[in-house]
Amino acid sequence: MQRILVVGAGAMGSQIAMVCALAGYDTTVTDVADEALDRATSQLHARLDRDVAKGRRTREDVDAAFARLTFSTDVDAAAAAADLVIEAALEKLEVKREVFARLDKISPAHTILTTNSSAIMSSQLADATGRADRVANMHFFNPALVMRCVEVVGSSATSDATMEAVTELARSLGKEPVVLHKEIPGFVANRILGAVRDEAIFLLENGIATVEDIDTACRTALGYPMGPFELMDLTGIEIGYHAKLARHAVSGDPRDLPSRTVTELVERGDLGRKTGKGFYTYDESGDRT
Ligand SMILES: NC(=O)c1ccc[n+]([C@@H]2O[C@H](COP(=O)([O-])OP(=O)(O)OC[C@H]3O[C@@H](n4cnc5c(N)ncnc54)[C@H](O)[C@@H]3O)[C@@H](O)[C@H]2O)c1
Repeated sequence: MQRILVVGAGAMGSQIAMVCALAGYDTTVTDVADEALDRATSQLHARLDRDVAKGRRTREDVDAAFARLTFSTDVDAAAAAADLVIEAALEKLEVKREVFARLDKISPAHTILTTNSSAIMSSQLADATGRADRVANMHFFNPALVMRCVEVVGSSATSDATMEAVTELARSLGKEPVVLHKEIPGFVANRILGAVRDEAIFLLENGIATVEDIDTACRTALGYPMGPFELMDLTGIEIGYHAKLARHAVSGDPRDLPSRTVTELVERGDLGRKTGKGFYTYDESGDRT
């Protein structure tokens, strides 16, 4: 495996592409929007410059990685040369199916097609291609430059050789692959995170403890770097809300619906740090008040 294509240069795709380039792969990251590529370029330079200034990486390594990294809107040219594709485009099934069908048409026969989604499983994309045995999920965590976990998940049609190749690639990127033996929406880490959130909300809604005390217990008793309410405020309360609605649309299970508390916050537009109010309130410099 030498050449990697990352489709989508947003928050995830840009950093995944950088991870690949830093590990020595010739990498192209594509997007439909020029602005997304410009933003990715400037954000990656700023971030990697900071790493160099703090002594986390050498200037030579960073310059060599940027020399291996191409930003482009021409997905066809990049797909024609890719050994493996990581799709990190918009979280919409129709968009991903279109991308996979196109990649299938243009990529060489040996090319493995993966998606970074955790909600959309590769079985929902495989039949848009003629290579279901070479389609899988390769799920990175945000921020991809920092987080070490990569979940590797195949559908029932994914071959062992594909699973091994994707797992090996994750390892060569300096990540710690977690291999699932079966598909399940949300995979492992996000399901566990969801269960902790559900329990935290249950304790809150039943008047057992305050937001602050539930977060404190998670930090001081369980060693979590931040409590579930602090984390929801940081990532945006609407993200979990939409993930729950998507899961409910598939399962029909009422337990998968968003909680009353989260629904009220989303309807009020109190989405966490980015709006200055969520489970906590924040002043203009982002400090908790
Ligand atoms: N943000 C997270 O925390 C996170 C974590 C793990 C996985 N993911 C998954 O990664 C994927 C990307 O998420 P993100 O947060 O980077 O989104 P984002 O909105 O930041 O970026 C998506 C990018 O895809 C581009 N795009 C849209 N349609 C495209 C197409 N047809 N071809 C190429 N590019 C296209 C958009 O212009 C945009 O730049 C999603 O599937 C998401 O579920 C996100």
